[in-house]
Amino acid sequence: MTTTSTATSRILASPTSSGREGGLKGLVLSGGVGSRLRPFTYTNAKQLVPIANKPVIFYTIEQLVECGITEVGVVVGDTAAQVQESIGDGSQFGAEVTYIQQDAPKGIAHAVATARDFLGDAPFVLYLGDNFVLGGIKPYVEQYRSGKKGSQILLHPVPNPQDFGIAELTANGDVSRIVEKPKEPATNLAVIGVYIFAPAVHDVIATLKPSWRNELEITDAIQGLIDRGAGVHAEVMDRYWIDTGKMDDILNANRMVLTTLEGRCDGSIDEATTVEGVVAIEAGARVENCTLRGPLIIGQDTDLVDSEIGPNVAIDRACRVKGCRIEDSIVMENSRIEDIEWPIKNSMIGRNVEMAGGHGADGGYKLTLGDHSRIEMPDG
Ligand code: DAU
Repeated sequence: MTTTSTATSRILASPTSSGREGGLKGLVLSGGVGSRLRPFTYTNAKQLVPIANKPVIFYTIEQLVECGITEVGVVVGDTAAQVQESIGDGSQFGAEVTYIQQDAPKGIAHAVATARDFLGDAPFVLYLGDNFVLGGIKPYVEQYRSGKKGSQILLHPVPNPQDFGIAELTANGDVSRIVEKPKEPATNLAVIGVYIFAPAVHDVIATLKPSWRNELEITDAIQGLIDRGAGVHAEVMDRYWIDTGKMDDILNANRMVLTTLEGRCDGSIDEATTVEGVVAIEAGARVENCTLRGPLIIGQDTDLVDSEIGPNVAIDRACRVKGCRIEDSIVMENSRIEDIEWPIKNSMIGRNVEMAGGHGADGGYKLTLGDHSRIEMPDG
């Protein structure tokens, strides 16, 4: 792990493999607020919410490394400590990570400006740490390397274009216009959070003014490149992509990643348990007298007893689940769920949560819920 100031001179003096392979650096954004993911974001960064038991941002860094981009800057905000603790120096991914502190969430383009010293004059892949692309970005990065014309963005059709940066294209696939969250969208082509920028973007960002939401918008920087004739090419991506900004999006991504899971059992499953579909059981996990319906993943040292689990379930490490039915859900580490009569579906359960049925509790529910918690009960 290195700091911005020391990293810059070292990196410029001694290029890594990413420097040799087309000069691309990686910049991952992990600042911002995450208000739509409360209560999880009260205690953690939104980029650390797990999909199939792995933080979203881990996929991001892995996908950059897969492109041969190992020199990676991570922009951090208020949740810097948690992000740094999880990612470390990047060696677990084969990357060399430099952390860059953003003083406040003043916009994506502001985050790029904050990383100016780290980026130097290299072209770079900007990857928003809450965006998820199934299968990675390698073909698009290779395409940029082979063409090397200006900058490149990726687009994806969406049903709700008002919520994204939206692009209009010329006949040859260049971007003619781009607008952030337009009230009256001209197309349904959303700009996804993976951009490849030529260093010319820094000159444009230096001229930007804050937008209506008081941020330096990356879409304005892209429009500035277009206006200067610097060339912004677009690819319409056919891979699964999601901005994991909301709970339903995370559950959706969880389902998608679980479909790619390879079955394995590094823990133990007893003979009373039945298994259907693909299941991944991590080391130290114990399954007794359960019905497992894949796809699902059970984290390290988690105990499952007398339960029906799956499909589409990720239960993270050190949990205990007994006497429950859970499907289409994420359970984060160190939580305990016991003797719940109703099935748990489409749920996200945070870290260190305790849910216990069979207590009587004066004939009613006894709840201790943090701000912005949400419970939906069945009738009867
Ligand atoms: O998901 C794609 C969309 O991402 C694009 O279509 C939009 O054009 C683009 O502006 C962006 O929109 P969002 O409103 O969803 O961006 P958000 O504020 O969620 O920030 C995206 C990521 O960048 C997130 O991981 C937090 C991080 N971030 C954000 C800001 C504003 C920072 O690190 N610093 C910041 O100042």
